[in-house]
Amino acid sequence: MDISRPALGAGLCELLGIRHPVLLAGMAGGPTSPELVAAVSEAGGLGAFGLTGMGADAARAAVRRAVGLTSAPIGVNVLVAPATEPDPSGGDPFAAVRPLREELGLPPTPAPRAEQPPDARRLVTMALEEGARVVSVGLGDPGAVADIARDAGAPLVAMAASVADAVRAVESGADVIVAQGSEAGGHRSTFDVPRDGTVPLVGTMALVPQVVDAVDVPVVAAGGIMDGRGLAAAIALGAQGVQMGTAFLVAAESGAPEGYRRRVARARDTDTVITRAVSGRPARGIRNRLIETLESAGPPALGYPAQNAASAELRAAAARADEPELLALWAGQAAGLAGAPRPAAEILRAAVDEAVAVIRRLADAAG
Ligand SMILES: Cc1cc2nc3c(=O)[nH]c(=O)nc-3n(C[C@H](O)[C@H](O)[C@H](O)COP(=O)(O)O)c2cc1C
Repeated sequence: MDISRPALGAGLCELLGIRHPVLLAGMAGGPTSPELVAAVSEAGGLGAFGLTGMGADAARAAVRRAVGLTSAPIGVNVLVAPATEPDPSGGDPFAAVRPLREELGLPPTPAPRAEQPPDARRLVTMALEEGARVVSVGLGDPGAVADIARDAGAPLVAMAASVADAVRAVESGADVIVAQGSEAGGHRSTFDVPRDGTVPLVGTMALVPQVVDAVDVPVVAAGGIMDGRGLAAAIALGAQGVQMGTAFLVAAESGAPEGYRRRVARARDTDTVITRAVSGRPARGIRNRLIETLESAGPPALGYPAQNAASAELRAAAARADEPELLALWAGQAAGLAGAPRPAAEILRAAVDEAVAVIRRLADAAG
């Protein structure tokens, strides 16, 4: 059996122009700093920016900086979820967070946002102009940006949390599917979220092989993968590689605030919850006062993504004050495996080396 390193995820690596089958999850909201994106790509994986929510100038400058830091390919990630209807049965989330605003010395009501962030198509176009070479989308049908990726000759990576969405994504032009198991940190990549917010939660172990059997493009596993054991397991399930978010949140180059990283590193397996209270769509994060306060107002009154506005300024102030209890601490169920902060290249190399060692050991044991 050939278990040499180049064979690990070879098809995926060739398609994306990378050496190791490890993708950095684009993480909107700041964790994917230009330094983190470039470090993962420079180490042979695929670094990707989560650009959703950024202003046009900031997004352009961030991609330009990362492209300037490495000659390896980098990707751009955008969220393409459709907006959801406001839910009149929910309480006012602005009122719910008012006491928390007071704690951070903010006035009772948020200032109106100066600039509307560009939409997904504009962000992708800008990132490709600045030299990004792979397009990745989450939370919705990749058809929303498929023509832009195709015209630029950029591979299109789409994240799906069910077999049906994976098949739909390939029909819409995806070249790679990220199968997102329910362990994953951040938003559920379920394309159509019903009115009551209930989404099927299929674990990584169950989802990956079923997606592998259903589509004829390379599959990347995501959700709860933190190290080489997870990478080896993903390969065993038929995936060609992994996408990791939480593991890279604690990297030395991550843009996540210190307190966020410390909280992630000491998380227990049971510390995360799935909540719609922050953004209006279900997402997994570490339970804290922000989530509890917004949950106490009931269903998300403003729908997605409008619900975000109720706590956006508060979360920005909490990041500046390094107050993790008032941040949205998106993280997966395996966060506690994150360990001590290390450079991203070390996280990546350790995962690849460990996966190769695990696969060799298993092959030896099998005789
Ligand atoms: C802090 C954070 C932010 C995220 N933001 C995005 C995003 O902007 N776009 C996206 O496609 N996925 C996003 N995700 C989800 C990841 O793509 C991926 O599914 C997840 O991180 C995998 O699970 P893990 O966190 O256990 O590694 C985010 C995840 C985290 C932890």
